[in-house]
Formats: sequence, structure tokens, C-alpha cells
Amino acid sequence: MLIAQLTDLHVRPAGRASSRVVETTMLTERAIRAVMTRKPLPDVVLLTGDLTDRGLAEEYEVLAAILARNVAVPVFAIPGNHDRRETMLAHFPGTRQEEGFIQYVLDDFPVRLVMLDTLVQGAPHGELCAARMEWLDRTLSAVPDKPTLVAMHHPPFLCGIAHMDGMALQGRGAFTALVARHRQVERIICGHDHRPVTARVAQAIASMAPSVAHQVELDLRPDAPSAFVLEPPAYQLHHWSAAHGFVTHTAYVELYPGPFPFLSDAE
Ligand SMILES: [Fe+2]
Repeated sequence: MLIAQLTDLHVRPAGRASSRVVETTMLTERAIRAVMTRKPLPDVVLLTGDLTDRGLAEEYEVLAAILARNVAVPVFAIPGNHDRRETMLAHFPGTRQEEGFIQYVLDDFPVRLVMLDTLVQGAPHGELCAARMEWLDRTLSAVPDKPTLVAMHHPPFLCGIAHMDGMALQGRGAFTALVARHRQVERIICGHDHRPVTARVAQAIASMAPSVAHQVELDLRPDAPSAFVLEPPAYQLHHWSAAHGFVTHTAYVELYPGPFPFLSDAE
């Protein structure tokens, strides 16, 4: 099974840039087109939050139109801190919810996909409140033997970029303890920090995908200023097989020279 993960799209109304610099709407369409030229195609596309820059109805409608004209496989989404739950439900077709949050399970694939809603509306940090933690525990308890991927916007670990760590998932200890009780959770995927970062959370590998638009500057000084850079945008492909479990690839959207054949000096 092949899962394409695109994150932190930050789509804006038509013709508008994000932070006056980043043409996020164009970059999102370009990334989606790149995914859809892959062979083989992914079985599913997961959008792990910050679908829009401001949570505006028009932004969700622009993104829905981009997906409608480019994507031929199922797309599932969860919100990030830039999204607005009610607006996403009303203006992004196919948005699912359970018990008041944009959280749900996809059971039709060889891997169980558990989609979480870590949004604290109006705040940059993430949280799984008692109701969402209870839903997650109940959901994972229901199918304990099927390999499971958990998708969430906010990382359940600190990455060392201080200004981003200040807005990570809160309650990480309780989340890690919950994951540890459900050994079928093999992979956690997230976004939010606009960088490719890998960490361990209980028994699971937690993988953060870079943004398909702008990236956060890699600056590990404690007083690093909050800034973004235009490093090459990328997305991730999570390949799962029964024999090998999950393997994650980072794929760049930009065009670059090549491919070149491997040749020896004698050729
Ligand atoms: Fe973001």
C-alpha cells in the first residue's frame, strides 16, 4: 500500500500569497500534480493539516477545486492550527467528523488509518482533550491486531527548533503512554513544523513531512527567530508491505537535472 502525505498547504484565496511571499495555492497545485504523475499512483492521499492559511471558506473552496481537477485517488484530511473546524466541515467536501471533531478511521486498507484532530481553535499549539484521548483509546482498542498508522497535525515530540517546539502537541507524555498501550501503532505521521523530522514515540516511528510550500528555517539555537525559507518543497510517500512494514520516502516537487544512467569509466 502506498500513502502520499501532503502537509501544510496553506492555500489562500485565488491570486493571494501567504505572508506576502509564498504563492501557496500555486505550490499546492504543483505538488498535487507531481504526486499524480507518479507511477505507481498512491492508493490514498492524506492531507495532515494547515490545508488553508486563514481557515477562510474561499480557501477551502480553492483547494477543493484544485483536488477535483487533479486527483484521481481518495483524499482524506485533518485540520491544523491554521484551519477552522466549522468552515472546513461546511466548505471542504468529504470532511468527516465523529463526536464533534474531525477525527475518523479508515478501515478499508491493508493498514488501519486513524485520523486525529489536534486543533485547539484559535491557538497555535495542539492538544488532545480528554474526549479525544478517550476516542483514540477506544478506537485503537477496537482493532488491536491490524497494523495502524496515526495521522495528526501537531508533532507529539520536540524537534529542537525552539519557536516551533513552543507550539507542539501538549500532553505528549499521556499521548506517548497511550500509544505504548497499543502496540499495533507502527507509524505516526504529522506536519506543523514545515520540516522533514523523524523521532520515536513509544514503539512507533513518528515522521514529520516537510511542507509542499514554505519551510521553517533549520536553526537549532535556543533564541532562533521565527522565520521561513524557500527550501525545495516536498511530500512523503509511506509504503507499507506485510513483509517489511512501513518505509518512508521524501520526494521533491522541484524539477532537477537527470535521471542519468550509472556508467563505468569504460563505457
Ligand atoms: Fe503550517
